[in-house]
Amino acid sequence: MVSNLVIIKLQEADKIPYDLLLLADPSRENVDKYIFNSAIYLANSNGSSIGCYVLCPLDNNTIEIKNIAVAIRHQAKGLGTHLLHDAMEKSKIDGFKKIVIGTGNSSTRQLNLYQKLGFKITAIKSDYFRDNYDEPIFENGTQCTDMIVLTKEL
Ligand code: COA
Repeated sequence: MVSNLVIIKLQEADKIPYDLLLLADPSRENVDKYIFNSAIYLANSNGSSIGCYVLCPLDNNTIEIKNIAVAIRHQAKGLGTHLLHDAMEKSKIDGFKKIVIGTGNSSTRQLNLYQKLGFKITAIKSDYFRDNYDEPIFENGTQCTDMIVLTKEL
């Protein structure tokens, strides 16, 4: 995968890795709605930040992965899968029973990845991306309109 990988939890005084976070969520305004109530985990390799994920508890039993991103040149090498396993393991240790992730209807590779790891589609928030983003989002020619919510029991 990548060499000398360490995953660290960001402390309050640390710089927020917007460059990575905006790969998964194109609206900084939207990121700022959850980032200050969430824990950010950063994947570092040889001194560079190459990935991250963000966890936000929804209630005592359920936690959401609000954002997961791998730097473009490190994608498709297994790091995203590793980060998802790490997020699930940490959440289980912290006593959560369910983990949730939301993605767009047009994010077919992400949908495939999450389902391969055992997440099941549990809800669809129709027109979520139309209603909450100023600019239309397109992926491979398909408009991203609905949020697909996937859940996994821990
Ligand atoms: N974009 C989306 N999905 C990708 C991808 C890419 N560039 N590259 C691979 N995948 C999918 C594939 O389904 C792959 O399965 P396969 O190996 O059977 O083809 C699966 O992810 C696992 O690959 P892995 O190497 O572990 O993933 P990754 O390190 O590229 O991380 C993402 C996956 C989605 C976190 C990463 O590609 C990324 O940061 N994309 C941009 C931000 C984003 O979309 N975040 C998720 C928002 S819901």
